[in-house]
Amino acid sequence: MNAPTLSQINLAFQIIILVILFVTLALWQKHKNFLHGLTMLIAIVLNIASFLVIMLPSVFSMGIPQLSDVVYLVIFAHATLGVTTMILGLWLVGSWHLQSSVQNCAAKKKVMRLTAVLWLVALLLGVLLHVYLYTSLIP
Ligand code: HEM
Repeated sequence: MNAPTLSQINLAFQIIILVILFVTLALWQKHKNFLHGLTMLIAIVLNIASFLVIMLPSVFSMGIPQLSDVVYLVIFAHATLGVTTMILGLWLVGSWHLQSSVQNCAAKKKVMRLTAVLWLVALLLGVLLHVYLYTSLIP
């Protein structure tokens, strides 16, 4: 059996982060706010790690090969949404300061929802990119 490639590891990593996102949403619904914040912090740190170790170097190694304009557009949209999500996520957990009171956070509910939606769209585009670059499912 061949060793997994970096992109397969990244895909698996991103799916694990998605599971953590679902867990963190369930914790929020059960009003376990501290645990919600903590799992969100873990998801954000893991995401930034996979960005720095795999996705950022991959952008630079792409050069200007035979990719079509549409693929570049998808990469650009994926990267822009991904960076925005990471900045918003860092700001949300950064302004929380691991406090037990969540009064401050409640006021940022709209930003949290926006971050979750942007995260999901970035993830979807990433999976699409992976299918295009590494499988023959999209001609
Ligand atoms: C919320 C943030 C992000 C999520 C959820 C995410 C998710 C994903 C997923 C699922 C893949 C497919 C796995 C793979 O083929 O490696 C991927 C690939 C990729 N992502 Fe992201 N990503 C995010 C942020 C970013 C950012 C900010 C950049 C910009 C540098 C970026 C650039 C790439 C590139 C270039 C690939 C293709 C990597 C390869 O050659 O395998 N991503 N991303």
